[in-house]
Amino acid sequence: MKVLVLNGVNLGRLGTRQVDVYGLTSYADLVQSCVELGAELGLDVEVRQTDAEHEMIGWIHEAADTGAAVVLNPAAWSHYSIALRDACALLRWPLIEVHISNIHAREEFRHHSVISAVARGVICGLGIEGYHLALRYVAAQQGRE
Ligand code: DQA
Repeated sequence: MKVLVLNGVNLGRLGTRQVDVYGLTSYADLVQSCVELGAELGLDVEVRQTDAEHEMIGWIHEAADTGAAVVLNPAAWSHYSIALRDACALLRWPLIEVHISNIHAREEFRHHSVISAVARGVICGLGIEGYHLALRYVAAQQGRE
């Protein structure tokens, strides 16, 4: 099963960006850990990152067309992008929203995600382990959807 692990704006800076909040794991390490875990779980995992909203929306359309599962960290777009939410509403396979940090324990403007209402579930505050838990959920759901 194909799984797109999609990362939004600024997440390419993981490992150097606000390490007190996002940790020391680099984006390259995140990619490697997701691909390796995916192989263990029998999933075909592809990890992507973009700072361009239209590119992210194109990837969501691609997943809607192909039926791929999506694990999405929408980053700052979580808090205001109705365009991204509308794209996510097109997905056939359940969407799992992931945040590295606990957005509810941070500034008030991060407490609401416009994406969450169209996601199957949300994992936040568990660091990059959240991506791994999301992949385990997708693997467990295979054949049940
Ligand atoms: C984030 C939380 C967002 O509020 C923030 O804008 C990000 C990352 C997270 O993974 O914790 O860029 O989605």
